[in-house]
Amino acid sequence: MPQLAYVNGRILPLADATLHIEDRGTQFGDAVYEVCAVMNGRILDWQPHLVRLRRNLAELGITLDIADGPLTLQARRLIAANGHAECIIYMQVSRGTAKRDHAFPGAAPANLVMTVRRFDFAQRLRQLESGIAVITQPDNRWGRVDIKTTGLLPNVLAKQAAKQAGAFEAWLVAGETVREGSSTNAWIVKDGRIITHPTGTAILPGIARDSLIRLAHAAQLVVEQRPFTLAEALAADEAFLTSTTAPILPVVRMDGTAVGNGRTGPVVRRLAELVWNEVARQTGWRA
Ligand code: PDD
Repeated sequence: MPQLAYVNGRILPLADATLHIEDRGTQFGDAVYEVCAVMNGRILDWQPHLVRLRRNLAELGITLDIADGPLTLQARRLIAANGHAECIIYMQVSRGTAKRDHAFPGAAPANLVMTVRRFDFAQRLRQLESGIAVITQPDNRWGRVDIKTTGLLPNVLAKQAAKQAGAFEAWLVAGETVREGSSTNAWIVKDGRIITHPTGTAILPGIARDSLIRLAHAAQLVVEQRPFTLAEALAADEAFLTSTTAPILPVVRMDGTAVGNGRTGPVVRRLAELVWNEVARQTGWRA
């Protein structure tokens, strides 16, 4: 089956799915996006993703003339057309196509595109055993990284540095503070307390992060949303990361040093059980 994509109301073969060269997303990174996990054909946490998308559009003053209901139908239609039960759906909304000028164009409608890619979520369960490594990189992003824009160059460079170092992710550090990963939220565990940077303007408010906090609270686990330092991270009992494409992964090495005993710890195991049970509850998916 050919891969299909969505462009402004039409579903097309991926090779024919194009935007105009003067799309503002291309020229200015003037666009926002969402990535959602699809398991068993069902979109995980769809409502929170929609809410975040709408918030980001409002923050940037981008008008998207499609209501949540039809947008949901179009997303589902594209997923069904691609025929993958396990995949990710990428949605991007730019401020539209217009003659290049920094200021907003007068009447350009937003450009909405969606793509779907197969994704192997079961690998994330295998990685629960092995754990993953992170390196640290300076956080040199702009001051509103809570808005999920396509302007991801610092994230791209940080992820590439991680890849070159043989690590899964780069944790972005500002001064002494660990903020988040290049495409994931960052967490540590100390004396049974689960610690992650608070939301605000310095991190992306991850949907997986929010979900994990709710699940942890429901299980009577202690979550502290506060900045933590790199020194604390290096001295943590456990560490982990979360995102749509990595719902929970243990971080067992940081800049080449073992975290805790260098193996997946009991708190991460407990949280992983909660996270994957929630996935099963919402989508029916089990490895
Ligand atoms: N990344 N922090 C950053 C900088 C991110 O780019 C992401 C998501 C997250 C986790 O957010 P969520 O739990 O909503 O996926 C945190 C997506 C997956 C991406 O860019 O591919």
